[in-house]
Amino acid sequence: MLQVGLCLIAALFVISITHWVYRWSNPKCNGNLPPGSMGWSLLGETLQCFFTPNHTCDTPAFIKSRIKRYGSIFRTSLVGLQVIVSTDSELSYMVFQQGQSFESWYPPSFTKVFGSQNLSSLYGSLHKYLKNMVLSVVSPESLKKILPEVESVATRHIEGWANKKTVELKTAVEDMIFELIGKMLISYDLEKSLVNLKKNFEAFIQGLISFPLEIPGTAFYKCLQGRKAVMVMLKNMLETRWAKPNKVNNDFFDYVLEELKQNDTILTEEIALDFMFLLLFVNYETTSKAIIMAIKFLTDNPRALKELTEEHEKIRRKRENQTVGLSWEEYKSMTFTFQLINETLRLANIAPLLFRKAVKDIKFKDYTIPSGWAVMVCPPAVHLDPVNYKDPLNFNPWRWEAKDLKSASTTFMAFGGGQRFCVGADFAKLQMAVFLHCLVTKYRWQAIKGGDIVRTPGLQFPNGFHATSESSYV
Ligand code: HEM
Ligand SMILES: *[C@@H]1O[C@H](CO)[C@@H](O)[C@H](O)[C@H]1NC(C)=O
Ligand SMILES: *[C@@H]1O[C@H](CO)[C@@H](O)[C@H](O)[C@H]1NC(C)=O
Ligand SMILES: *[C@@H]1O[C@H](CO)[C@@H](O)[C@H](O)[C@H]1NC(C)=O
Ligand SMILES: *[C@@H]1O[C@H](CO)[C@@H](O)[C@H](O)[C@H]1NC(C)=O
Ligand SMILES: *[C@@H]1O[C@H](CO)[C@@H](O)[C@H](O)[C@H]1NC(C)=O
Repeated sequence: MLQVGLCLIAALFVISITHWVYRWSNPKCNGNLPPGSMGWSLLGETLQCFFTPNHTCDTPAFIKSRIKRYGSIFRTSLVGLQVIVSTDSELSYMVFQQGQSFESWYPPSFTKVFGSQNLSSLYGSLHKYLKNMVLSVVSPESLKKILPEVESVATRHIEGWANKKTVELKTAVEDMIFELIGKMLISYDLEKSLVNLKKNFEAFIQGLISFPLEIPGTAFYKCLQGRKAVMVMLKNMLETRWAKPNKVNNDFFDYVLEELKQNDTILTEEIALDFMFLLLFVNYETTSKAIIMAIKFLTDNPRALKELTEEHEKIRRKRENQTVGLSWEEYKSMTFTFQLINETLRLANIAPLLFRKAVKDIKFKDYTIPSGWAVMVCPPAVHLDPVNYKDPLNFNPWRWEAKDLKSASTTFMAFGGGQRFCVGADFAKLQMAVFLHCLVTKYRWQAIKGGDIVRTPGLQFPNGFHATSESSYV
């Protein structure tokens, strides 16, 4: 009797598991679910090859093989989440534009990493409020004031490189960007500070798009530890500044503190600290990678380097007073530079994946995206589609000369789109353009080793970028 009972329980168990696996693999949908496979239940298809490192600029192989099998829109599961993947430029554009149908959302491992206050999925008034705070420091008016500061930091660093025989450009660029934004945001001083902020950020970034396994030794674990250390530093900084209310630092943190002091503010200390962390991170991580990729592309494309150098030498020669720095008008006149920046961002795909969540059933062409599902937009698939860009893996800044900019709005999404369009886009471009100006007018380099990339799928430079180095001042 007991045996029969046990058998029955076992059978029920097997049936319910099978049922669950079946439900997972064949989700309900009032309409036509995009094709695809839900993989091996809980772990989804993650382990198969999503995080497999790849050394090319190409669309991740995981995505590519599924586009071949299912078309440009398909379903999958990642780390136990049901996801619709969009590699279609029209659907991706729609996802960005329709903020009411697709709310901002990130996988739980991201929210864990970016703070309990769910900064990445903020919506409504708080989102608007924080966005306006950032806009106030990166508005065109503010950027005009920041330009000389960017130029002076870039000049000082590049002259430093020119005085050495060889330079590891990856670290050198990161140090430069870190100094600039650390100073602007929190008056961080590398020499004087007790906490090695950059080292903690590196640990954080290494594990950011890795498999979210929180066990000592894994990249994800180090990522959380790195964040913890930075947060402790920011909290101490906040307390120090509360204690000395009259000391003026003239940085963004001061401005945040002022906001915190307001009686009717919706900002809390916790949100403010998460927000500072996010800003330090996006500034540092994205801009330095974009600049390193630009150097890499220039190294591999002498014709582009030549045209860029000519554009900037012309700006310099035209200047009447050589001791005066770059002007706003000169900055705005850098036509080829901006083409080169677009082309660099198109191929670099610094944000390889963007997430949203469908808040209702959404029809697109023949398909229905069920309410509650995650939507993952994959910009590299759009940027590297030969329909959108001829010969897509080729670095060709001149293609932007002829580019129909109306179509560019749906086929270029390096900065996202819609309501969540990157607030820092203009600031990032300014940093890149000013840096490139200083680079090609003051400096010559030759690659020795490194410069290879790895995508996991986040962009990384495992072996740095070593170059011989000399000044080009005559
Ligand atoms: C080349 C450099 C950069 C790239 C490629 C980049 C890319 C992006 C992308 C793709 C998004 C959209 C995220 C989404 O839709 O979920 C975004 C949002 C954002 N970016 Fe950037 N970014 C860059 C530089 C910066 C800089 C320098 C700042 C600093 C001010 C910044 C601040 C932000 C903020 C605050 C958001 C959130 C906007 C919102 O949710 O409304 N970014 N960025
Ligand atoms: C890297 O990606 C390309 C294009 O998606 C693919 O052909 C190649 O097999 C991938 N390499 C590895 C090691 O996965
Ligand atoms: C974060 O978001 C989740 C789900 O949206 C919610 O359950 C949780 O309470 C939020 N956490 C905070 C601190 O707001
Ligand atoms: C905040 O409220 C306190 C007491 O209610 C008041 O003394 C103070 O002036 C207010 N501060 C501001 C900035 O409104
Ligand atoms: C060039 O500009 C500098 C700094 O603005 C100024 O001190 C100097 O007098 C100027 N020289 C000429 C020749 O105008
Ligand atoms: C770069 O791309 C953006 C977005 O599509 C576009 O508005 C801009 O005009 C492009 N810049 C150049 C120089 O083509």
